[in-house]
Amino acid sequence: MERTYIMVKPDGVERGLVGEIVQRFEKKGYQLLALQLLHPTKQHLEQHYADLAGKPFFPKLINYMLTGPVVGMVWGGKGVVKTGRVMLGATNPLDSAPGTIRGDYCVDVGKNLCHGSDSVESAEKEIALWFPDGVRAYKRHVDSLIYE
Ligand code: GTP
Ligand code: MG
Repeated sequence: MERTYIMVKPDGVERGLVGEIVQRFEKKGYQLLALQLLHPTKQHLEQHYADLAGKPFFPKLINYMLTGPVVGMVWGGKGVVKTGRVMLGATNPLDSAPGTIRGDYCVDVGKNLCHGSDSVESAEKEIALWFPDGVRAYKRHVDSLIYE
């Protein structure tokens, strides 16, 4: 099954938006495979955002992500990587469509509430990074009502 790593960033946790974000993925029909609140270390975040290490906003991004705990999740389902990002909305919340999480709940790119993996490959890398003990699959009876 396709999987993605969705993370509620510290602003989203503190603003009480974890439930809202979880609910959107649940209501869509995606399957919750793992969920944890944790206080990430600088090293962990630098690994997670390694691709952006050269960007001018990188130090600011790491500091933002260190302002509090994050809630990391693994969601599974058909097209969940691409559609998960559509549900989050464009990186810059001013460009995010209404109805998306960022479009509905935030304003600045440096406080954009949530993260979603950008490809199947990075999803699997991120899941291994944040859930090193592995993620166990389980059968959902409701799948017969979601998939044809
Ligand atoms: P993520 O799902 O968080 O990975 O966002 P993304 O894939 O849409 O964007 P990208 O991976 O390019 O950037 C990662 C994060 O860095 C963004 O979500 C923003 O929080 C932050 N970021 C990206 N561009 C800028 C920028 O120009 N300025 C600032 N301050 N932050 C940025
Ligand atoms: Mg990204």
